[in-house]
Parts: sequence; C-alpha cells; structure tokens
Amino acid sequence: MPVATGSSNSNTSNTLPFPPLTEQHILNCAFSSWYNTFRRVTLKSKIIKPLPEEFIEYLHADGVFLPDQKNHIEFSDDEEEYTGIGTDLISEDDEQQLPSFPDLEQQIWQAIEEFDGAVFPKLNWSSPRDAAWMSATNTLKCNNPSDIFLLLKSSDFVAHDLDHAFEDCNYEEESLRRQRPDVFELVLRKWYDVAPSMEFRCFVRNEELVAISQRDVNYYPFLVDVQEDLETKIIQFFNTNIQNKFFNRDYVFDAYVTRNRERVWLIDFNPFGPMTDSLLFTWEEILTATGSPIFRIITSQSQAHQSRSQPFVTNRFPREIFDFSQGQTVVEFAERFQRELMIEENSDNDENQDNNYSASAGNGA
Ligand SMILES: Nc1ncnc2c1ncn2[C@@H]1O[C@H](COP(=O)(O)OP(=O)(O)OP(=O)(O)O)[C@@H](O)[C@H]1O
Ligand SMILES: [Mg+2]
Repeated sequence: MPVATGSSNSNTSNTLPFPPLTEQHILNCAFSSWYNTFRRVTLKSKIIKPLPEEFIEYLHADGVFLPDQKNHIEFSDDEEEYTGIGTDLISEDDEQQLPSFPDLEQQIWQAIEEFDGAVFPKLNWSSPRDAAWMSATNTLKCNNPSDIFLLLKSSDFVAHDLDHAFEDCNYEEESLRRQRPDVFELVLRKWYDVAPSMEFRCFVRNEELVAISQRDVNYYPFLVDVQEDLETKIIQFFNTNIQNKFFNRDYVFDAYVTRNRERVWLIDFNPFGPMTDSLLFTWEEILTATGSPIFRIITSQSQAHQSRSQPFVTNRFPREIFDFSQGQTVVEFAERFQRELMIEENSDNDENQDNNYSASAGNGA
C-alpha cells in the first residue's frame, strides 16, 4: 500500500471529496482479512502470522543483510561460482549479532515446496514491487527464504506497511492514531506467470463498479480488439463474486483475466483513497462517475508514453545499479553490491588519505 506516485492527480487529491477512511477500512484490505472469504476466486496463498517481532526489527534494521541461517553455505572464493547463502553481506563484528529465524524459514520452505518451487511475497498490504529490479528476472519470483528476506528488506513499500499503514486514516482524535497493526503477516502466494496486459484495476464506489483501468499502462494492441469482452467478463466477475461480499463499501480491487479470457481471478483489494494509484483515471473522474462502469485501456503508443507512470526502477535507482543487477539472483546481487560499496568506500578512504598526505606534504610536514 505505497503512496501512489504515478497518477496525475496526486497534487489535487487532498482537496477531493473522498469518503472518510478509517483504520478498519485499511485493516479490511490486509490480505489475511479477506483471503478466506475470496479463497475460491484468488491465487493460492499461505499466510504466516504473526511474524515474530524480532523479524520486524530485522526488517527495520539498517543495511541489507541476511539473517543467520541454519544451513548456511559460504560463497566460494571464485566469484563466478555461487554456492549458496553466505554471510559476506555483514562484517565480522556484526556477525555475532545476526538474528536467526529458523521456524520462519522452515515455514517458508514448506510453502515453496507446496507451491512447486516458487512464491510471490508480500506483507499485510504490500509487495516489495519497488525492489524487483534486484532480481535476475526483474520479478518477485522467490525460490528460497533469502530472496524473500532481501526483497522485503530492500523495499520502501514494505517499509510503508511497517510504519505508516494508517497514515491516511481519519481519527476522531489524533491521539488515537496507530503507527502499526498489532501483528504483521507474511503472505506467500503461489507463483503464476501473470500476463501484465491482462491485469485490471477496478474502482468500486458505494458498492457500484464505476471504473476499470488497464493496470500495466503500456500499449498492447490486441487489447483494443477484445476490450468489450474483457469489460463484460470483469463486470460479471464483480457482480457474482465481489459485490456486497467485501467489508468496505468503497474499495479498489485488482483483477486478472486469463489469456484465453475464460476466467477472472482476484489479485488484491486496496483502499479507496489517494494512496492507491488511479492509473488511467484521475480520482476526480472516479469520484464523480455514475452509471455503468467506464472501461479504459491504452489505445496507442503515444498515449502510453503520456500516461505511463514511471516504473519504480527508473525513478528510484540510478540506471547503473539496474544494469548491474541483471542476470543474478537477489542474494548474488546484494552480495556483489555490498562488495562494490566496500571497494568504493575503501578507495574513497585511500583517496582522502592521499589528499591528506599531499596536503600535509605541501605544508612541508
Ligand atoms: N502469485 C503471483 N505470481 C506472480 N505474479 C504476481 C502474483 N501476485 C501478484 N503478482 C504480480 O505482482 C503485482 C503486484 O501484486 P499485488 O497487487 O498483490 O501487490 P501490491 O503491493 O498490493 O501492489 P499495489 O501497490 O499496486 O496495490 C500484480 O499486479 C501481479 O502482476
Ligand atoms: Mg495492492
């Protein structure tokens, strides 16, 4: 549930007449609140809850490092040959203080095994989408606990779940505002090769579906020919499976239509508010829409250029870091990145020493 960055209306959203958003509305969007009710129409998932508080502290801690792991295997000396999980990401001084989460790791391994080797991770509300650039595939496909730990630890969106989940809520008194939920959960969803072109964000106002937007705002020419069918399928899906079944009356849900357009799946529920990206609509349009839903897709390349919200990878990280990450696992990337940082730090120190030396030499010392 990160703060939306892409939509054009973020400056004006403060003044728009959003329905009041309570803490309960946000809690209702947490994965474990809705999963059982919608189990039949969403992707298979496991919820690990509550997460140990030490794990939350680990996620909060500075730096990107792995917990101590039971079956820990060191990196080999040969950089090309990655042999498993290592502790190279931390200095020897820190090593004694490494947290360790054997029970959690075991539960993660169980889920990975049950889901045929790959899972998609998220916390109560958010996935670490903004950290996907770290992985070889530029996705959140995780095959082991280390991938999950590093992605969660590197993500600002996850950090938002940890400390700012209720930031946009209305409270009767400011003193009632909570910083965080009572417990955190790790959600592991079976990995599916989702086609981004077939994902749609659906806006529901007062239990009426008012707007449907393509979620990945690139130009997919084939969508133009099938848009009526897509619209019909999504409306049918809403009427049958979602309407009056969710706990809020105003909400945003994400739907996925299979490539053959025979089935629609629920992906997620999001709060109805400016923290949710309104994609191809402005919030003003959504708030004033009435009657049958407006269905919107990208219909040309130039429209895609105009409306594409910048992928997180390009608006958050220098291009060199993105290039540097390609072709490696998350763990390999984090390890190599840490090494490069250390080399850079050392060379900076050497340079400073050289400068000091030449400065003092110049002073005749
Ligand atoms: N089980 C899965 N397997 C593969 N990809 C997935 C899976 N679940 C979600 N995704 C992909 O990840 C994207 C983000 O998923 P999800 O909506 O759950 O995360 P989120 O953090 O709530 O995102 P947002 O901030 O946009 O609401 C989806 O649009 C989909 O492309
Ligand atoms: Mg979401």
